[in-house]
Amino acid sequence: MKKIDIKLTVNGEQHEMAVAPGERLLDVLRERLGLTGTKEGCGEGECGACTINMNGQAVLSCLMLAVQADGATILTIEGLQKGADLHPLQEAFIGESAVQCGYCTPGMIMASDALIRNNPSPTQGMIRDALANNICRCTGYDRPVKAVLKAASQMKERKNG
Ligand code: FES
Ligand code: FES
Repeated sequence: MKKIDIKLTVNGEQHEMAVAPGERLLDVLRERLGLTGTKEGCGEGECGACTINMNGQAVLSCLMLAVQADGATILTIEGLQKGADLHPLQEAFIGESAVQCGYCTPGMIMASDALIRNNPSPTQGMIRDALANNICRCTGYDRPVKAVLKAASQMKERKNG
């Protein structure tokens, strides 16, 4: 089948590649670019494990074709950390013990990152709504919600000096 040329900016790096028409963005990220932090759970839009940030919005990469992402700017969990410094969300998830097996964590953090970028002062209700499509089988939701509240407040403090 004829391949289609696409361009993606992923975690600040530009990539050009030829993809099959049915190739999923999730597979491009994990298999072609080696960014295995983005997880596959259900593969059908139900669990949120594959959540990434595309053009500033949380997107389920298992439901997105790579061709649909042509020209997009994508951030994955690998792109959040700055050098050796974890992102405040990553620090808060660790600090609040919001990670057990960790399989859902990259998706939860990317959904939370998109929320905070669009609303730096989310309420608990907004966080719960933003994480409503991210299923966690071990930690539950109270600790992740606390972690997001903490990270948002730390990010605001750092911004305000
Ligand atoms: S793997 Fe994409 S929503 Fe579950
Ligand atoms: S920490 Fe295991 S599924 Fe969420």
